[in-house]
Amino acid sequence: MPVTVVVGGQWGDEGKGKIVDILAQDANIIARYQGGANAGHTVVYNGRKYVLHLVPSGILNARTICALGAGCVIDPARLLDEIDGLISAGINVDGRLFISHQAHLILPYHKILDALNEKRLGDGAIGVTGQGIGPAYTDKYSRCGIRMVDLLDKDTFIEKVKVNVEYKNRIIKELYNEPTIISDSIVSDYLGYRERLLPLIKDVSVLLNSAIADGRVIICEGAQGTLLDIDWGTYPYVTSSHSTAGGAVIGLGIGPTRIDKVLGVIKAYTTRVGKGLFPTEFEAEMQCRIRAAGAEFGATTGRARRCGWFDAVITRYAARLNSVDSWALTKLDVLSQLKTLQICVAYEYEGQRYEQFPPDMRIVERGKPIYDELEGWNAPIDEVRRLSGLPKPAHKYIERLAELTGAPIEMVSVGRERGETIFIE
Ligand code: IMP
Repeated sequence: MPVTVVVGGQWGDEGKGKIVDILAQDANIIARYQGGANAGHTVVYNGRKYVLHLVPSGILNARTICALGAGCVIDPARLLDEIDGLISAGINVDGRLFISHQAHLILPYHKILDALNEKRLGDGAIGVTGQGIGPAYTDKYSRCGIRMVDLLDKDTFIEKVKVNVEYKNRIIKELYNEPTIISDSIVSDYLGYRERLLPLIKDVSVLLNSAIADGRVIICEGAQGTLLDIDWGTYPYVTSSHSTAGGAVIGLGIGPTRIDKVLGVIKAYTTRVGKGLFPTEFEAEMQCRIRAAGAEFGATTGRARRCGWFDAVITRYAARLNSVDSWALTKLDVLSQLKTLQICVAYEYEGQRYEQFPPDMRIVERGKPIYDELEGWNAPIDEVRRLSGLPKPAHKYIERLAELTGAPIEMVSVGRERGETIFIE
């Protein structure tokens, strides 16, 4: 399919990085459509682990072009560090990475305000990654954000930083009584970054639309997951961008009719980092077991991820919101040690059964998950490369997930490496 959107079907960390890296082998362009360095896409290639935060996961494939769209928020220091890391690992980034003029910049005051806001919220804190994401998108929608395009003209950039810093300092001082920041040091750091960023700025919409016209293969890479979407997620415990597939259209400057396929990525169980409701969360012992087996620690913050049973209510919701054509199912191998498995098929609240994810978060919070119990396979599967090689109960598990979510499963990941994947015809 020429244009495929890869979207997370849960609360992020579904393993999109590995799936995008696989698809990148047959793609011309990988374009990230939202989020910033809050994301942590892990790709294992030739035994080496790469954690990408901003650079699209296709960069490891030497032939692909990578782009960061208008929907992204760019922290230049983090991006340049990431680029340097790739270069020192022998990956040529030159002429292969571009950033939209319209992408917003993360500035140091965004990170400061992110932290101060969490502190202010106390017990109600969101559990953010601390990358300044919320404050940067707040500025974007308040129409005072600074964009990549502003770097083109030094004076405009300096003026915008000064105006913003003056206002942010009032908040920092008067609301939080914390030390203020100095615009001169920000300007001097950012003018340093500017030299390296200027060659990367490109009209990403033109790049993608011309590629589409030429029949090229494009992967639109989403970060986070459906349940973290600013409109459709478990608000307010969400990120500040459109992580659903619709975000690809807005965030990249391509029309909705240009999207040929939506590939959802779901993990064989559920995880989430940060606070917020989580109906199928395990009790303590299972938490530790699955967290250890699945190495469930945040790729950006190192925080332990919360783990739980597969929740078909949220993935059914993700299938609907994103018009998922098919799924890539990841980390099936992590469940190999279990004798029985549970899948949440619906929630029950005040005698009513909810198969569709309720828009009222109080129902999700107070409702009880209803589980189907399935037999486990209790055998290693990491060396299996064909569907027919999987134990019967693993087949049944996959079939049941497809049935409950209403979309077929086309790929099953059974390990971290590219090759540890089963493709289903
Ligand atoms: P923020 O995106 O840093 O504002 O964080 C908001 C919420 O989204 C927090 O619960 C984070 O843990 C979560 N979050 C942000 N990025 C990711 C991600 O890439 N994977 C999983 N959770 C994320």
